[in-house]
Amino acid sequence: MISDLVRTEQYGNELNEEELLATVFLLLLAGHETTVHLIAAGTLALLRHPTQKKQLVQDWSRTGTAIDEMLRYNCTVQTTEPRYVANDMDFHGNHLRRGDTVMPFLAAANADPMQFEHPELFDLNRRPNQHLAFGSGIHTCLGLRLAKAEASTALQQIFTRFPDIELAVPVTNIAWGEGVGTRSILGLPIRIRPAG
Ligand code: HEM
Repeated sequence: MISDLVRTEQYGNELNEEELLATVFLLLLAGHETTVHLIAAGTLALLRHPTQKKQLVQDWSRTGTAIDEMLRYNCTVQTTEPRYVANDMDFHGNHLRRGDTVMPFLAAANADPMQFEHPELFDLNRRPNQHLAFGSGIHTCLGLRLAKAEASTALQQIFTRFPDIELAVPVTNIAWGEGVGTRSILGLPIRIRPAG
C-alpha cells in the first residue's frame, strides 16, 4: 500500500512529499500500531477469562460488544493529543489558565466507577459501554470502524484456528511497554495446551 502511495507521488503528483510522509505516519502509528496492541491485549484478556472466551467462541455475533469491552479495559491509546485551554477556568478545583496544555486521560475515564459498574472487571457482556477509547467530539478516531473490523477478523481467526492456546508464561511475566501514550504488550508467548 505504501509502495502504491509512493508511485502515486511519482507519476500522478497527487501527494507531495509532506502529504506522503504524513499519510505513512498516520497509517503506521495511528492505524497499525494501535490495532496490533488492541489485538494482543484482547487475546490476553480472553486467555485470562476462559469462561467468557468460551461464550464468545460459541457465538461470534457478540464480537462487537466484546471488542468494545477490550477497548475499554485496556485502552490502547491512553490519552488524547494535547489540548489547549481557550479561557481561564476552574475545573474540579484546579485553576486552568488560557493557553495551558491539558492531556485528557482516556484510560482513567474508561475506569470511572461513576460511569461503569465494577470497571476493574472484564465483562464481555457489558452494556451500555460508552467508553472513550477512540476519544470523542470532533477528533473522534477516524479509523475506529477499520480497527474494530481488523480486531474482529484477527480474534476470530486466532481462536477458530487455534482453539487450544494458552499463555506460555505466568501473566506477571508479560512485559508491557513503558510509554504513557500507548498501552502495549511487548510480547505474548502462547502455546498449544498440552493434551490431558
Ligand atoms: C485500536 C485502534 C485505535 C485506537 C484505540 C485509536 C484511538 C484514537 C484516539 C483516542 C483518537 C483521538 C485523539 C484525540 O482526541 O486527540 C484517535 C484519532 C485518530 N485516529 Fe485512531 N485509533 C485506532 C485506530 C486507528 C486507525 C486504524 C486509523 C486509520 C487507519 C486511525 C486514524 C485516526 C485519525 C486520523 C485520528 C485523528 C482524528 C482527528 O483528529 O480528527 N486510528 N484515534
